[in-house]
Amino acid sequence: MSNFPKKLAQKIAGRKAENAFRKLDGPRNLIDFSSNDYLGFATSSKLDEYAQGFLKTGKGNMKCGATGSRLLTGNHELYAKLENHLAIFHNAEAALVFNSGYDANLGFFSSVPQRNDIVLYDELCHASIRDGIKLGLAKSFKFEHNNFEDLQRKLDLAKEKSGQADAVEVYVVTESVFSMDGDSPDLLDLAELCKEKALRLIVDEAHAVGVFNRGRVHEWSLEDQVFARIITFGKALGCHGAAILGNHELKEYLVNFARSLIYSTALSPHAIGMVLAAYQEMQGNHGLKNMRQLRQSITFFNHEIDKNGLRSCFKKSDSAIQVCQIGGNAKVKAIAGVLIEKGFDVRPILAPTVPKHQERLRFCIHSFNTEEEIKKVLQTLKTSLE
Ligand SMILES: Cc1ncc(COP(=O)(O)O)c(C=O)c1O
Repeated sequence: MSNFPKKLAQKIAGRKAENAFRKLDGPRNLIDFSSNDYLGFATSSKLDEYAQGFLKTGKGNMKCGATGSRLLTGNHELYAKLENHLAIFHNAEAALVFNSGYDANLGFFSSVPQRNDIVLYDELCHASIRDGIKLGLAKSFKFEHNNFEDLQRKLDLAKEKSGQADAVEVYVVTESVFSMDGDSPDLLDLAELCKEKALRLIVDEAHAVGVFNRGRVHEWSLEDQVFARIITFGKALGCHGAAILGNHELKEYLVNFARSLIYSTALSPHAIGMVLAAYQEMQGNHGLKNMRQLRQSITFFNHEIDKNGLRSCFKKSDSAIQVCQIGGNAKVKAIAGVLIEKGFDVRPILAPTVPKHQERLRFCIHSFNTEEEIKKVLQTLKTSLE
């Protein structure tokens, strides 16, 4: 008899009963409508070649591994090179690299908002933001997705509950492209509101950098109105890691208090070299061409949604994430199964990752997806929905 804890076994059984059991899957070799490799950088042989170049420029003996935390022996010289580049490229005072976007959000939200501060976050914010907030000591309130009237209501409620109208810092958190919905908030309106009410705005740009070039905060020239931006390298940049962009004091603070930075082995020189290489690639002719192609593919995908009469089930999105809401784990899994059988890698997004009855198919569009592939995948979807 297994001596696995009974309560855990019951939770697994519950997942299976709800058709929401997760398991690790191998590579599928299908037409990619699923990965976050929006510009095809993850499979570029040039990136590795450029990265080797960065490793050779190092004065020290660039090691395979970082050998320690960034506060001990792990802060190899490519870190400074990358952080200087990020600050200039993204028009920020400073950048601080973390091992992943998950680590960046965990480190930021667990350490920056203090006891009695208030965090107001969009209800669809990524799990890493919510986990970070949970670890912190501030009071948190979620507001309805992209609804700034609700944000103001929650702000009044939070201040009333905290009983101290002025003494607190209030942080407002959103994403410039929502990972499970593909839509974006009206950042201009939100930044204006935050300015008017003296709230500190934090924007996670994981799915915007490389898709909207330097990100949506830059697109709207809002750099000075945003307290912190989270950018990640595992999506359009095709590598690994993340950074927080903000001012020098914020960087100093995080180096001292963000536990996910302090108590973890740093990224290897090669990993940082890859990120430098990806930025080089993104700014070169190849990267710019891929970004243009990606925009065209997104427009074409939307055109085909309309042509196939699928508009009512797709969420409005101008990003690389296009979402077809279906509802019900079993149904969404069955339709994904048909698409997979026909050769398309499209993943079902199930409850509890998204709320029950909002289960969906998430199509990630890439610069390398052809018009033919887009046409076929949507025709197949149409037929399976019928
Ligand atoms: C909005 C958002 N923030 C943060 C992360 C975490 O980034 P990483 O994959 O680098 O840990 C993700 C990843 O899915 C994301 O979608």
